[in-house]
This record gives sequence, C-alpha cells and structure tokens, in this order.
Amino acid sequence: MSTLNTYAPSPEWVANAHVKGEAGYAALVAEAEKDYAGYWARLARELLSWQTPFTKTLNDSDAPFFKWFEDGKLNVSYNCLDRHVEAGKGDKTALIFEADDGAVTRVTYAELLAKVSQLANALKARGIQKGDRVVIYMPMSVEGVVAMQACARIGATHSVVFGGFSAQSLRDRVQDAGAVALICADEQQRGGKALPLKAIVDEALADNSCPTLKDVIVYRRTGGNIGWVEGRDLWLHELTAAQPTTCAPEWVESEHPLFLLYTSGSTGKPKGVQHSTGGYLLHAALTTKWTFDLKDDDIFWCTADIGWVTGHTYITYGPLALGGTEIVFEGVPTYPDAGRFWQMIQKHKVTIFYTAPTAIRSLIKAAESNEAVHPKKYDLSSLRLLGSVGEPINPAAWEWYHQHVGGSRCPIVDTFWQTETGGHMITPLPGVTTLVPGSCTLPFPGITTAIVDETGNDVPNGQGGILVVKKPWPSMIRTIWGDPERFKKSYYPAELKGYYLAGDGAIRDAETGYFTITGRIDDVLNVSGHRMGTMEIESALVSCTELVAEAAVVGRPDDTTGEAICAFVVLKRPRPSGDEAKAIAKQLRDHVAKEIGPIAKPKDIRFGDNLPKTRSGKIMRRLLRSVAKGESVTQDTSTLENPAILEQLGQAY
Ligand code: WT7
Repeated sequence: MSTLNTYAPSPEWVANAHVKGEAGYAALVAEAEKDYAGYWARLARELLSWQTPFTKTLNDSDAPFFKWFEDGKLNVSYNCLDRHVEAGKGDKTALIFEADDGAVTRVTYAELLAKVSQLANALKARGIQKGDRVVIYMPMSVEGVVAMQACARIGATHSVVFGGFSAQSLRDRVQDAGAVALICADEQQRGGKALPLKAIVDEALADNSCPTLKDVIVYRRTGGNIGWVEGRDLWLHELTAAQPTTCAPEWVESEHPLFLLYTSGSTGKPKGVQHSTGGYLLHAALTTKWTFDLKDDDIFWCTADIGWVTGHTYITYGPLALGGTEIVFEGVPTYPDAGRFWQMIQKHKVTIFYTAPTAIRSLIKAAESNEAVHPKKYDLSSLRLLGSVGEPINPAAWEWYHQHVGGSRCPIVDTFWQTETGGHMITPLPGVTTLVPGSCTLPFPGITTAIVDETGNDVPNGQGGILVVKKPWPSMIRTIWGDPERFKKSYYPAELKGYYLAGDGAIRDAETGYFTITGRIDDVLNVSGHRMGTMEIESALVSCTELVAEAAVVGRPDDTTGEAICAFVVLKRPRPSGDEAKAIAKQLRDHVAKEIGPIAKPKDIRFGDNLPKTRSGKIMRRLLRSVAKGESVTQDTSTLENPAILEQLGQAY
C-alpha cells in the first residue's frame, strides 16, 4: 500500500464531523466492545422514535435468526416524516425531483407526508393490511418513494423490483412473495425515451399466473398508450384523489418485515432478502449520519435506483429518517450528455454525492474524449463529501474522482456492504479515516467484520481469506422469504463458527489493518454494480431449448463495467461461425434479456462443440475463466477430456 497516496482528514473535518477523529472512532468501538447490546440500544433510543419503547435489545436464543429490539413498536414512515413535521420542519424540502428532461419538482416534508398518507389510505381502502406483500415496479420518481413509504405506513411489506427486470423476473418475484398488489407506472422516461413498464406487468401477469395478485395500481408518468384490465387495473391518481391527507401510522413490532428485496445467489432463483423494521431503520439512519456526516443544510444525492438496496437505504429511508434534503433523479448520467451529473451538482448545489465506480469510469472515458463534459467545466464547489458503492473502486478512478469531482478537497467514502447487510459495513468515516484509494478501510463502529480461513479461524493481516461478520448486527438480513433453510446454508455454514458469511474475499493491510475487498468467492458476478448469479444466466440460456444444448457462464474483468459476462454455449446444431455466429449470439442475448433483463445480456458469447470437462464430466470453470480473459491456457489440462475444444472457444461473438 506504500505506493499509493494517503489522505488524512483535514482539521476542519475532524472538528466538525459527527464522529470526530480517531479518538471519536476509538471511543465508539470501545463502547461496543464493552457492552455490545448496550451500545446498539443507546443508538436505537437516540436515533429512532418508538411508540412502545423496547426493553430487550438482542435475542440470540434462536441463532442465526436474531431478533433486535423485539418488544418495541414503531413505524418507519412516522420516523421518516411525521416526527420532522411535528418538530416544525414541515416546510423543509425533503425531495428535489429532477425529471429526465430537467424539470424540477420540490416536495416538502409536509407535502410528502400528505402524499404518503393519501396512498396509505387508498391501499387500506383496497383491503391491503399489515403483513400483505406489495410489489413496486416503478421508475425513479417521487411516487416511487411515496409507494414505499405508504406501504411502511400501513405495515405492508414492499418488494421493489428494478424497472430493468423482465416480465419473467417480475412474475417470479410476485409469485414468490405472494403479493396482493402491484404498484407500477405506465412507462418510464429515461435518456429521452419512454420505456414500457405497464406492458411488462401485463405480460408478467398474463394467463392468471399470479393468482394472489388482485390490484395493479398505475401511476401515470408519460400518458403513453397502455393496455387495461378492467377490475384489476386502477389509476393511482383516481385512487388517492378523494383520500384524506392524514392517516394514522400502523405501529408494528421491531421485527416486522419492512421489505423483501430479491437478489442473486450462487445457486437457484433469486432470493427474497427479508429486512426488519427497527434494526434496519436504525442502521439506515446511523450510517447516513456517520458515514455521510449528513447535516441539516446538506443537499444529499445518491444516484442509485430505488430498485436496489442502495436506493432503499440511502434514498427512501436513511436521509428521510434524519430529516435531510435529497435529490431523486429520473434519468441517466449520459443524457442529454455525459455532463449531466456535474450539471446537476452545480444546479442544485449538491454537498454529498454518492455513486458507483462503474458510473465514474464511464464518465472518465466520456470526459477524456469530450472536454465539454469534463467536471472542470462545472462549478462543483458545493461538494464536501463523495461516496462510492457497489464494487471495488480502482485507485486510478478514485484519484480522478477525488481530483476532478471533489476538487482534491472532499473525502471519499468507499462503502462496502450488501443487500443482506442493510447498510454500510466497512467504510471510512470522513472526520476520522486516513484514506487509501481502493480500500474500504475499517469497520463501521460496532460492526465486527473479520477475515478467516475455511474453518473460521482468523488469518493474520496481510494474508487473504474469507470475509465474515462475527456478531449479529441490527440491520442484518432476517431470513430468505419462505426459505429459512437456504438462509442458514447460505449465510451461516456450519464450519464458520456461527459467523455471517458475506460471500466476498478480502485482505487486511499488514500495517494499517485496512480491508480491501478482493471479489466474490462464489458464483456471483458484479457487472456495473449489478449483482447476478452465473447459474441464473446459464438457466436463461438453456431455456432457449430450440437452440441451446448446454451453457456455462463466467465473469471476466472489464475496464468499464468491472466484470463482464462471458457465456460458453454448445448449440443443438453444428457450431456456427462468422455472420451466422453473430446472428445466433444476438438471438441468445435477446433471449436472456427477455428471461432476466437487459442487464444480464452476456457481453461475449463463445461457441464450442462441447465444453471443457474433466473425465468425470465436471465443467472446468477455472479454465473457462482463463479463456474468457484471453489468457493463453497454462493450467494443467491433463484431466481435460477433450482438449481440442479450447481452440474452438477462442473466438468471442
Ligand atoms: C456485493 C453486494 C452495497 C450495495 C450495492 C450492492 C460488492 C459492494 C463494495 C465496495 C468492493 C463492493 C461486494 C458485495 N461490493 N460494495 N465498496 N467495494 N466491493 O449490493 O447487489 O447486494 O452486492 O457488491 O462483492 O458482496 P449487492
């Protein structure tokens, strides 16, 4: 690490941040070590408003099904809205919505509370109750945030499905969750184009494939032409118009499931990660406060979509729980040009900016080929803090982000976490941590991350291993919806001494103890910060039964997207080449887009008469990874049954 620059926090940061300096950090870590439950209980009382205070902090009697603050009752929407209005902040701007075309709408806390209450009343009028599941398939919009908050207000468990997922993926999620209602938009407007949402919903629900689902509530975004099923489809504006603007919140137990969010694992179908109410909201609020140092006059912008966990925690819940002001952006970073982010930071005087390395890398490329969209062409002096999330950030991109976006003055918090962890796990704190590009540095105070070997024993610093979390924490995944056995097997394997298995490899620096994430240790890919299972993509390919006999998918490094999907395919017909191979590759990509979504399309497709297998018939994935990278295969191929195959796989389409 000595070859990298280091950046210590300025004295101003140390003096003014919520967590002040190394001493401030050490005091919190010591407090958590001394009395773990007491530490979290103190914070839960300080940050959240409880309708019924809890008396029990952590119940570990049925590990790994941990319970936090279990006898307490609260409501997330009350914590995010009412309490700020009651404190006299009703006129404060909660959301600054910027549409794809640049139009801006501001929503105050009082207005947001009224909108949420109206929709909550409408949902109740439709018979939707505490514990019912509601799927949300919405664009980035005020209404998307309102839909999530309205569910929280009545105790319904939402499950947001990213607008880029296909009809098949949406159907799987509606079915698995047993959803009673679905809230969507007619279309979404992105990059100057209207893209269908309701049409995909119609396809997903065709043939009565989702019998639990009664209502489809449609937000009119573009006014485009859509199909309509009488008795099932309802306009959101008609449903809410006559509803009162107040609605008593449903007080729920702390462990009540606030949401399910489907994410990819190494095997099988995506799993419904179940999050709680109290523990989740605590960490959402606490990490927003300490990692982002959110203050009353900040303009916070997290560029994630509400379809991912980052949008849940750092758009819908964390900043609102603290009464902050934030941007909600409908569009894409490259429309009308690749200066959009910088132009919006300038226009709205954004102070805290949180985005993904893949976006930074593509904007670097754009800025290098077109001066006009270089961040130096914009006034970014309002910025005081930058964040990164979703994948490792390479030091070169970090340095560019620091220099050209942050004006060499803004700390960068490289936040490591997962859908399952609910919020930040390993991250710098801006008034504390000396930054090293490419390292997510040290655990958030109270979080017990460690690096162990296959048997759960600690490995010394400087030696890589498996990333685990030793103690349960408030915002952790509670279970996989409907599959507690899979939850145990995936995250609490018997050999790891009761530690939570993150699924990533990591290494700690010998001197500083800083963590660097080295990548997934399972068959999960990270493409542009989107998480995908290789098995899911393989199943999608082989479901093209008229063409595909067999498929294997691996990741390979990619300069812009981090990882790229590479598929090895054996067809049911002779191996194609040239234009024919190109045409079939396109057909397969379209098929995957239809099965999962465009984000799962393989970048490279390689055709073989067979796949490289051992004599016992196992696909040699290690070898495929080398081929995908374009490496000459130096590995031992003596166990390979059909070495000639390797040559065929050399050509990517
Ligand atoms: C996986 C989780 C975190 C919310 C968005 C993604 C990778 C995430 C970092 C980081 C290196 C990172 C890990 C993790 N990851 N943040 N700062 N540095 N890797 O959530 O879809 O659940 O993916 O993203 O591999 O396991 P997710």
